[in-house]
Amino acid sequence: MQTASGKISLTMADITTLEVDAIVNAANNSLVGGGGVDGAIHKAAGPQLFKECRRIGGCPTGEARITSGYQLAARWIIHTVGPIWRGGDEGEDDLLACCYRNSLILGRQYGIKSIAFPAISAGVYGFPMERACRIALKEMKRFLEKSSDMEIIAVCFSNSAYRYYQDAMQEL
Ligand code: APR
Repeated sequence: MQTASGKISLTMADITTLEVDAIVNAANNSLVGGGGVDGAIHKAAGPQLFKECRRIGGCPTGEARITSGYQLAARWIIHTVGPIWRGGDEGEDDLLACCYRNSLILGRQYGIKSIAFPAISAGVYGFPMERACRIALKEMKRFLEKSSDMEIIAVCFSNSAYRYYQDAMQEL
């Protein structure tokens, strides 16, 4: 399934299979891997990814770090750490927006032309998908107003996530 709004497209896929310049990982502060998309990316990229992440040593919430993609089709992996949802009154929205903003800025610095994002924080970290997808798309749109040569893909991993993103795309 594909929906597009300018240079933002929506797809349902396993992000580790995408042939883009960079995929974004929903990591944790330690950067040593975990479950969800983090686990899938580490599994697909292979053991050197863990070694590079360990050398980096960690990543504060809202920030982004870049590594090689190793055995992935993607050349780069941008690791960002989303906020854990605690009800919405602890700055979660702003921190999530920072994840997308900092990942896109880092991608631009590395000359990345196509980048795929999972729904950061909307899994284990409990951020409501309906709210998270609007923050994601708003930051993607804002970035493309300044850097229109990048193709951004929002990757969904369930029908319900796809429907939330589709509805939010209509509001862009
Ligand atoms: N491809 C694309 N999207 C995926 C994939 C995949 N292979 N696997 C999971 N997802 C989706 C989930 O369905 C969810 O919508 O990614 C979104 C983010 O979910 P999580 O991976 O649980 O990430 P997050 O909520 O940010 O929690 C991060 O989970 O895996 C640990 O180490 C990670 O501690 C960190 C925490």
